[in-house]
Amino acid sequence: MSSTKKTKQGSVKTPELENHGKYSLVNIWVVTLALKLLLSIGYHSTDFDVHRNWLAITRNLPISQWYLEKTSQWTLDYPPFFAYFELFLSYFIPPIVRNDGCLDIVEKGNYGIPTIYFQRMTVIVSEIVLFGSLQWYINTSKSHSAARRAYVVASSLVLSPGLLLIDHIHFQYNGMMYGILILMINCARLEKYLWCGAWFAILLCFKHIYLYLAPAVFIFLLRAYCLQLKIDKSKNFISNSIGLVRWGNLIKLGSIVLIIFTVAFAPFYKVLPNVIERLFPFSRGLTHAYWAPNIWAIYSFLDRLLIQIYKKVTLSQLPLQKIFKFDSELLQNEDLIRSSTRGIVGDIEFLILPTISPKLTFVLTLFYQIMALIPLFLQPNFRRFMGALTLCGYASFLFGWHVHEKAILIVIFPITFLVSRDKKLLAPFNLLVSCAYVSLFPLIFTSGEWLIKVVYTTLWYIIYYFNFRKVVLPFKNFVGDGEIILDRFINGYILGLIPMVTLVSLIDLFEHKFEVLQKLEFLKLMLISVYCGIGIISSWNGFNWLYFMDESIWDDEIDNN
Ligand SMILES: *[C@@H]1O[C@H](CO)[C@@H](O)[C@H](O)[C@H]1NC(C)=O
Repeated sequence: MSSTKKTKQGSVKTPELENHGKYSLVNIWVVTLALKLLLSIGYHSTDFDVHRNWLAITRNLPISQWYLEKTSQWTLDYPPFFAYFELFLSYFIPPIVRNDGCLDIVEKGNYGIPTIYFQRMTVIVSEIVLFGSLQWYINTSKSHSAARRAYVVASSLVLSPGLLLIDHIHFQYNGMMYGILILMINCARLEKYLWCGAWFAILLCFKHIYLYLAPAVFIFLLRAYCLQLKIDKSKNFISNSIGLVRWGNLIKLGSIVLIIFTVAFAPFYKVLPNVIERLFPFSRGLTHAYWAPNIWAIYSFLDRLLIQIYKKVTLSQLPLQKIFKFDSELLQNEDLIRSSTRGIVGDIEFLILPTISPKLTFVLTLFYQIMALIPLFLQPNFRRFMGALTLCGYASFLFGWHVHEKAILIVIFPITFLVSRDKKLLAPFNLLVSCAYVSLFPLIFTSGEWLIKVVYTTLWYIIYYFNFRKVVLPFKNFVGDGEIILDRFINGYILGLIPMVTLVSLIDLFEHKFEVLQKLEFLKLMLISVYCGIGIISSWNGFNWLYFMDESIWDDEIDNN
């Protein structure tokens, strides 16, 4: 009570002096540790063997060979810091794990329980980066109500079903990667721009998927740290636009980023072309084996639908042929059609609709990213920065080439930092997280984990649905009936996930008994992708609307978070 009073008197004080100790993430770490340990011997995906293989490569081979070695198909395709990280981990491998085959360079890993325990522990321990960075985010809040909101944000992220499913069941190191991202984000919030640039460069040298966020970080640091423009808000034009580059800052920031990249890549200078080729394999297809719920899932679905119409409705053949000018010979090939409706196609992605090239996906992604950067350039504050990061993530997920459904975390993390303050953002947020987390369900298809993924995700959603509603500030403007109706509609769509998941689970359950159901194998994945895809695209629309139309959400002034 007394400390609340102190804040209200409004004296200027450094955030560190404030004691937000009661909002501690340590309890959460301890409690969830038990669950993670329980899950550790359960199902894991091939990503587990990928990381085991990288441990073996980095430990056994000289640096120059790391990006050349290809005994296993799981070649090293993350940037150097991640390779150093694997090397670092390999020094902790006890003899019993080594004898278990953990460090063998083989085509297919031959390992047992000790290796599994060891690698699971590395994920759990490295996740401390995430807990630490979020605790720092809470600690540096400026007021008690801000700390309370920060706690809801932080706990929702460390407890995210996405992390549980992807890291602790499927197997990856996202907790640590997103921990570094949050260090970057919190440095931006505290206006430590050099650190912000440094953390982001470090992150890129760990995992290059974050390149998708680079446009937003670049524009933010350029505007907030390296340029000195005064923008006249009322007239919306840029005055003093020439000659105001802060050269000192630009050079400082540039050298820090350069040094980090040099440290990462210099040891590989002789094999640099091989490293680049490994990092950017464009030979992969447009969609991943499972369709990520994005624009291309809808597009693929339309193609499959048109094939059926073409085959079943004779009248439709001529007009379809006229519009899309496809090769109708291909549609005579029953094998091809069967394989395409099962989703396993070689080079041909689409039979009726025009083929999508990597270039087109690249142009679309960049276009939507640049749109998001314009408001950030005009108003380079923290909330705009988070908004631009969110939209860059959305653009890459919705339009990118060969997107994995796991990549949706790149949207969920930045958007979560925004929703705790404005009620209007809750609707797109709820739609996004519910559809995104459900779309991860097919990653974990074993029956043992069914209960965990469904129950955990549902509980998480209910808890944070109410917690976010409780901590957000009330509407500043009048809300019309339209928005309330829209809210109901969105909630209805989210509830629709329940019958869909039930249906899919029932198909799973009775698959062995009835042959008819086995034919539905792909249909059921398509159902999830399309339903969740429409949800995620709608949440993107809603977010865009608020980003471009509603000025009131994006000021930092209210309480500076
Ligand atoms: C946050 O604050 C608590 C209590 O004041 C302190 O014990 C902890 O070390 C701080 N953590 C970080 C990461 O700053």
